Amino acid sequence: MTRTAMALAPDDSLDFFVDLHPPASDFRKDVLDGLAARPRVIPPKYFYDADGSALFDAITATPEYYVTRTELSILERIAPEIARRAGIGAVVIEPGSGSSVKITTLLRSLDEPAGYIGLDISKEHLIAACRDLSEAHPGLFVGAVCADFTAPVELSELDMPAGRRLVFFPGSTIGNFEPGDAVRVLKHLRQWLRTGDALLLGADRIKDPAILTAAYDDAEGVTAAFNLNLLKRIARELDSDIDPADFRHRAIWNAGKSRIEMHLEARRDVRFSVSGQDFSIAAGETIHTENSHKFSIESFSGLAEAAGLEVRDHWSDPSQHFTLYWLERGAEA
Ligand code: SAH
Ligand code: AVI
Repeated sequence: MTRTAMALAPDDSLDFFVDLHPPASDFRKDVLDGLAARPRVIPPKYFYDADGSALFDAITATPEYYVTRTELSILERIAPEIARRAGIGAVVIEPGSGSSVKITTLLRSLDEPAGYIGLDISKEHLIAACRDLSEAHPGLFVGAVCADFTAPVELSELDMPAGRRLVFFPGSTIGNFEPGDAVRVLKHLRQWLRTGDALLLGADRIKDPAILTAAYDDAEGVTAAFNLNLLKRIARELDSDIDPADFRHRAIWNAGKSRIEMHLEARRDVRFSVSGQDFSIAAGETIHTENSHKFSIESFSGLAEAAGLEVRDHWSDPSQHFTLYWLERGAEA
């Protein structure tokens, strides 16, 4: 793996920035392959350019998207317990850190944390969030890694503080993977854990489908804009005349697979090209853009176990809408 530790300006508040952003050719290949496949499918990691990250943040403020505020309410309640378990001088590593909002709640409680490392695929958003966090916590070691966590990322090569690691993976981002891929991602995270380290992970629960479908199709249309932004990104970055106005956002509860699916449905027969390749999509056909799996405590624990992680504890909100898990290295799966 080639690592580029970018030179930082002397006054930069970040202690390091490592750029492992996947090349543009990966986006092109995944879009061309995905549009040619049946069903058509594009991985959700491509939602997150700068606009996509800002739209995700706007989703978290919609009244329908209970996920963020519910997880935050649990975190606020259990922060002293997490601080007690993490001990003095912990290093927090957050994959899929986004705006690094939730970590602020934990940092308030942790006992003299030694460092924070944000890791995200959305480069500008990651740098801005980690700089803000660093400025809000003078003296805290703050590093940023732009990388795709669906591939292993070697933390041992990073020059970061020693100390017990608390890997923090909130937001139910694990739900965006099919079970086999979720186990692979969990195995990558497990590799960061040594004896005594822990993974604190948030996963969304199965609940009334009406609550779920509303959360992924808010009345203001923010989630629709987030989904359609993927087409804007394709038009902008992949030399394409695809027109987002030809598609509509769909959010569907798939009970058999226990997941919300987001699709982009063609409003009419559509023809467009991407990087010189022609495509036609019939009215009503969809491009599948995201799965958001919902779990029972048992189903999530099964995934964790398959990845060699032991659930040592878990905490939920009173409505059992969301659960945070404390995981440690178990026997190799
Ligand atoms: N942790 C935040 C943000 C969740 S949104 C929260 O709980 O609110 C999901 C985040 O994961 C985004 O910031 C997105 O850019 C990032 N992400 C998605 N897929 C990724 C991947 N494959 N590798 C690295 N980051 C990814
Ligand atoms: C990041 N991820 C867990 C969010 C989710 O709920 O699946 C992304 C999202 N998609 C639509 N709304 C929010």
